[in-house]
Amino acid sequence: MSFATYPSHQNRTVFVSGGGSGIGAAIVRAFCGTGARVGFVDIAEAPSRALADELTKAGGTVRYENADVTDTAALTAAIGRIRDALGPITVLVNNAAHDQRHDFFAVTPAYFDERIAVNLKHAFFAAQAIVPDMQAAGGGAIVNIGSASYLMGSDDLTVYGAAKSAAIGLTRMLARQFGKDGIRVNCIVPGWIMTQRQLDLWVTPDGERQIAERQCLKRKLVPDDIARPVLFLASDEAGGMTNQSIIVDGGWV
Ligand SMILES: NC(=O)c1ccc[n+]([C@@H]2O[C@H](COP(=O)([O-])OP(=O)(O)OC[C@H]3O[C@@H](n4cnc5c(N)ncnc54)[C@H](O)[C@@H]3O)[C@@H](O)[C@H]2O)c1
Repeated sequence: MSFATYPSHQNRTVFVSGGGSGIGAAIVRAFCGTGARVGFVDIAEAPSRALADELTKAGGTVRYENADVTDTAALTAAIGRIRDALGPITVLVNNAAHDQRHDFFAVTPAYFDERIAVNLKHAFFAAQAIVPDMQAAGGGAIVNIGSASYLMGSDDLTVYGAAKSAAIGLTRMLARQFGKDGIRVNCIVPGWIMTQRQLDLWVTPDGERQIAERQCLKRKLVPDDIARPVLFLASDEAGGMTNQSIIVDGGWV
């Protein structure tokens, strides 16, 4: 197989949250492969440094900043440092999240707020910090990463699913508000994607059986299956697309 390289991304500055591992790392790699300048934040220092070093050695322009996205001041300060280093940001990928399982009856107000902070709040504030760059540049693209979990249903992901479903609402609100500035806002809604974390924690024989039964495609989806449509939605090839949420789940839901 061979894949598109999107010349429109060359020399663009892209910001990715949670870019140190999993789907975020695939997104960072993919943008880097197009010649974009890529800045990302993550709390996982070791894999993030290793990724940034590897891509820099290979000739890419990549900057990693350690920032916890639930700390809005730290997030926006990191975005500022990336802008200073790589130039105005015209592509934003809101990817960071945490799918910790929770028992419905054990959820406290504090835990609820924490889940919203890691799964939703930062996407709003990253957009608030970066939209002015896009307005000044005459346009830009935001890609929010949702989750099909709320469409599939699950007994132990109620708050996560609710927060991730809001990625679609945020997409539609921002698309309407900033379309006049040439800013396109779309959402990719992944199904079950085989990141290392998923493989380590959740891919049991029962999980494998569910994939075989529920997906139209019988292969396991991998992070690049998400990174490629993110590249497309952020590229000039998708110049007429905004306000959309696209499910990438191998046909599960
Ligand atoms: N893997 C899947 O099956 C799946 C399914 C549906 C949706 N998604 C969505 O895809 C996106 C990526 O998921 P993933 O599976 O790659 O997750 P992951 O847990 O493998 O990676 C998430 C990354 O975000 C970072 N991160 C977590 N909390 C952070 C914080 N507070 N501050 C900064 N960085 C933080 C982690 O260190 C990690 O590098 C998420 O938005 C997730 O909701 C994933």
